[in-house]
Amino acid sequence: MNIKFLRLIMVLGSLFYFSNSTAGEWEKGIKRVAIPGGLTADQLPDAQSKGAALLALYCGQCHKIPSPRMHSTSDWPMRFEKMMDHAMLMAGASPDVKTPADKEKKEIVSYLEKNGFRGLPATSLLRGEPKAFNVMWFCSACHAMPDPTQFPAKEWGKIVDRMNSYRKEQGREEMNDSDKRAVINFLVDIRMYLKGN
Ligand code: HEC
Ligand code: HEC
Repeated sequence: MNIKFLRLIMVLGSLFYFSNSTAGEWEKGIKRVAIPGGLTADQLPDAQSKGAALLALYCGQCHKIPSPRMHSTSDWPMRFEKMMDHAMLMAGASPDVKTPADKEKKEIVSYLEKNGFRGLPATSLLRGEPKAFNVMWFCSACHAMPDPTQFPAKEWGKIVDRMNSYRKEQGREEMNDSDKRAVINFLVDIRMYLKGN
């Protein structure tokens, strides 16, 4: 099924849910937004920084504090804007929702950009590659494709297992062993190709 369409249903569904809640229920309901890999304030990278403090303050209101490693540096500004849309909408439903001032927005975005992962640059590498379809299917539901050169080849097994647990947490189809192997081999191949060794 089309992922964009699925997302749209998710967003509309959550908005419908919240728009039906009364103020007291709102507090209970909104904390139900489950995002995988959420952190507590002290687990954030560079936890003492201003950016981390602002992220914890504003981004933990409706769900757990998201890991800044959940999106690529180049995707974060757009993801951030989407969250501001939620916040503006929901601030109308509850006066308790705090929204950051312009200066604070800049601080949060630059913190996210600094700590996000490096995305795979737009490249023809994956185009027309039949194996790539499977990898995209399993790996692009939540975030952009990561550039595999930023981790040693032996790390990918662990990362893919962790990602599979997030798929499970969200009720998505889990990768079986042969799916996982195919994804890991593909990433390790691209890594080698990009690094030239
Ligand atoms: C007013 C409530 C609200 C606030 C405040 C909020 N979010 Fe969200 N967030 C949501 C809702 C609702 C969803 C689920 C729907 C969706 O994915 O858009 C969500 C989902 C997410 C997701 C998972 C989906 C995705 O796009 O990757 C991430 C990551 C996220 N939020 C990050 C943030 C960050 C960063 C901030 C602070 C700048 C923030 N949120 C502040 C309501 C909020
Ligand atoms: C269900 C959502 C989801 C899916 C599907 C998903 N990821 Fe992730 N990904 C996350 C979250 C949440 C984080 C941040 C938390 C973390 O790193 O554990 C993340 C972070 C990452 C990172 C950065 C890790 C780090 O330590 O810096 C990489 C690389 C990554 N994902 C690769 C993948 C690959 C490869 C796949 C496909 C096998 C995949 N992801 C599928 C949710 C997902």
